[in-house]
Amino acid sequence: MSTPALSPAVPKPDHIPDQFVYDFDFFADEAMTKNAHARVLDIVKNAPPVFWTPRHGGHWVLASHQAVFEATRDYDHFSNSPMPYEAIQQVLESLPEGAPKPFIPAPITFDPPHHSVFRAPLNKAFSPKAMHQLKGKIRELAVSLIDAVKEKGECAFVDAISEPLPVTVFLEMFGLPVEKQRLYRDLVKEHFTNTDRDQQAITKRLRKVADVMRDTIIERRDNPQDDLLSLLWQAEFNGEKATLYDLENYAVMLFTAGLDTVVNGMALGAIHLAENPELQAELRADPEKVPQATEEILRRYTFTIPPRFMAADCDFLGAPLKKGDMALMFLPAADLDATEYPEPEKFNLEREGKAHIAFGTGIHRCLGSHLARIELNILYEEMMARLPEFRLDPDKPLVYHGGHVWGPEEVYLKWDV
Ligand code: HEM
Repeated sequence: MSTPALSPAVPKPDHIPDQFVYDFDFFADEAMTKNAHARVLDIVKNAPPVFWTPRHGGHWVLASHQAVFEATRDYDHFSNSPMPYEAIQQVLESLPEGAPKPFIPAPITFDPPHHSVFRAPLNKAFSPKAMHQLKGKIRELAVSLIDAVKEKGECAFVDAISEPLPVTVFLEMFGLPVEKQRLYRDLVKEHFTNTDRDQQAITKRLRKVADVMRDTIIERRDNPQDDLLSLLWQAEFNGEKATLYDLENYAVMLFTAGLDTVVNGMALGAIHLAENPELQAELRADPEKVPQATEEILRRYTFTIPPRFMAADCDFLGAPLKKGDMALMFLPAADLDATEYPEPEKFNLEREGKAHIAFGTGIHRCLGSHLARIELNILYEEMMARLPEFRLDPDKPLVYHGGHVWGPEEVYLKWDV
């Protein structure tokens, strides 16, 4: 992939003092494309903990643990929705009968009190107990993907393993046809690599996602089975039965939140393991340490950057944020903050104390964290058990992509056969 062009810098508004300005394009920063987390460490050391960048129309970035932690729990100022709930309802009501509705990914774009209404139907479906039941299938799948490349002595890890694994798990959970895997993988790629952030372009891309799921969604309404779509049809929102529109919003939300994240999380983990043969040896000798390794990989290489939209003016840790401004929760920096994690750049399996916030914090904390952890742990366990020591292919350097989910474009692994 070619690196996207830098977004043009806009002039700094007068009310923002110079000390808060730092130039950083979270989609196209050049240093990030070469080594994403080296750039995060650079920002942690050299940028203000709350800064304004002139890129992408000008926006704020919260880059310390304290800033991210406080903002993600201050729902009165930091909203998850670019538009107030009432305004969205007005737009929906004003649309002519049958006109296509914009997607409103639920529950992530809702603030209290509406958020809990839309999160509630998902809680049981994603509980640790429900996810536990998927373990056998996930392991079977991980084993078959690893075994398919084992004798080759090399693989393009994203294409061969970290993409098909979560996409297949997602399709099975939803009761969607697994034969359509290729189509879904192409949609994931198209959605996440496209840098056109225009609302209409995003809606068009999401429409495609909803369209391929539509027949199955309707089918499950008429013939419920033991899957997530059938369960979601039973949901009620403020006494109203779920509609096709509600189901599409959920499906699109889970598709965007649950696929690219796991793909990139696994790829970042594979890079760290490939670069550290002594860690591979330690985990092979004692597989019980894999869950600790998974957590430390998530902290060291935190990779999601959720946005917030200012619902009111706010003097936040000295910075003058104004109503309507966008503020990014730069979680990768929060998890590399030395005030919370001593020697943050060190990978430390025995790290004690504060848990990471790779899954966010507050009411929007990741609903899929139990599933993600199971997928990551099982994959690392099976890689350790089935592959000999592996390394990065030195002829194929890593290139990272930016955006709201950071990660490598591809990871080329090699091992001796
Ligand atoms: C390693 C993998 C993953 C990471 C690092 C991750 C990270 C996150 C983060 C940081 C948030 C909070 C966003 C915010 O504050 O606005 C979040 C929310 C969410 N995630 Fe994940 N996620 C992962 C996997 C998944 C999976 C597998 C699913 C489901 C299939 C999922 C579903 C969700 C949902 C539905 C929300 C919104 C929750 C709400 O608004 O109440 N995630 N995730």
